[in-house]
Amino acid sequence: MGNVIELEGVVKQYDSAGAPALGPLSLTVAEGEAVAITGPSGSGKSTLLNLVAGLDKPGEGRVSVGGLRIDGLGEKALARFRRERIGMVFQFFNLLDDLTVVDNILLPAQLAGSARGRAMERAAELMEVLGIAKHGRAYPGRLSGGERQRVAVARALINRPALLLADEPTGALDTASGNEVRQLLVDLHRSGQTVVLVTHDLALAESCAERTVQLVDGNIAVDRRNAEVVR
Ligand SMILES: Nc1ncnc2c1ncn2[C@@H]1O[C@H](COP(=O)(O)OP(=O)(O)OP(=O)(O)O)[C@@H](O)[C@H]1O
Ligand SMILES: [Mg+2]
Repeated sequence: MGNVIELEGVVKQYDSAGAPALGPLSLTVAEGEAVAITGPSGSGKSTLLNLVAGLDKPGEGRVSVGGLRIDGLGEKALARFRRERIGMVFQFFNLLDDLTVVDNILLPAQLAGSARGRAMERAAELMEVLGIAKHGRAYPGRLSGGERQRVAVARALINRPALLLADEPTGALDTASGNEVRQLLVDLHRSGQTVVLVTHDLALAESCAERTVQLVDGNIAVDRRNAEVVR
């Protein structure tokens, strides 16, 4: 199997003075792998995710995702890359409150110019699998935190991305909702989805990911296989 992510000698420096926020760092993630990125606040986890998502560019080094070199791409090509190859889930859902659940989920498909009928089928299938089918016509404001995060996951998956990125997906959730979302990520990974998730939640890291990469001061301090757990 190929690598979905290849980072080579990547450096990100926000300020001209001092040590870089990230790197120099090299990392590969294989197709079908689930990797948890952990580390203290400020260690560079979100920076790393943003570079992989094409939301930001490194000062040095190479970033390839799904065989495509993205560090040199222009804004338009990057936007297209994000739409077609990447699904992203954030701590605070980032749903649009004045669109219904189903319209939120359909939005990336619309932006990608997908046929409406096909996109609707895919949305219905995802809502069914994620247990939110009955909320399709509701507005996100009426849903629980766990339900909102499941809508965000459906939106992230509508274009069948090669890579699902999640930044603290359980960070804003209570224990029960956190467990729902955790189980959902475990199931997605089991079905073959490549996942990279940033989390402080050790239970999530251990249950969902077979590999943990720990960052300290922008460098990889630990890169290990997680103990085999019943997933
Ligand atoms: N846009 C930015 N401009 C300047 N500095 C930034 C920017 N984004 C991040 N940084 C700095 O880079 C370092 C790494 O930040 P990053 O957000 O990647 O950390 P993190 O590991 O995600 O932390 P947290 O767990 O708190 O989310 C920090 O020192 C931060 O202050
Ligand atoms: Mg962060």
